[in-house]
Amino acid sequence: MKIAVGTVASVFAFGLSLMSGPVGAADAENGEILFKSICAQCHSVEPGSHRTGPSLHKIWGHPAGAAEGFGYSDAFQKAGASGLVWTEENLDKFIRRPRSVVKGNKMAYLGLRDDADRADVLEYLKQMSQ
Ligand code: HEC
Repeated sequence: MKIAVGTVASVFAFGLSLMSGPVGAADAENGEILFKSICAQCHSVEPGSHRTGPSLHKIWGHPAGAAEGFGYSDAFQKAGASGLVWTEENLDKFIRRPRSVVKGNKMAYLGLRDDADRADVLEYLKQMSQ
């Protein structure tokens, strides 16, 4: 019985998070859903767990190209060496259009253009970095 109640509650919470629109503050729960459906095929938020892309654990506020043990492209290594740091502004630009921030990088993803969705993914990454 308890399981059934819990399931109903979590389905309800999931429904709510899908329905609550972009009005107001960014929504980390929606960000997590988006991250899992778009980014997680290449990225994990677990420390040191690299897939096609580097782990994004503690990405927020950290220098680009700095996850230990990941083989970054030359473009990314150069960007990191020349001082690119993942501030909110830089992350936002990068996720919107990866090639506009680090030209020649090997992230095979064109970008997340929807402003509200991007704000939600950023909020999720911020929470995962704490
Ligand atoms: C097809 C695989 C793929 C997808 C999908 C993808 N990425 Fe990436 N990502 C990469 C790769 C590969 C790199 C490293 C690029 C390089 O070395 O040139 C990267 C790099 C990054 C970095 C920089 C990491 C660092 O250590 O400096 C961030 C931030 C990032 N991705 C965020 C995202 C987000 C957010 C999404 C979803 C909206 C996403 N990525 C989707 C493959 C992917």
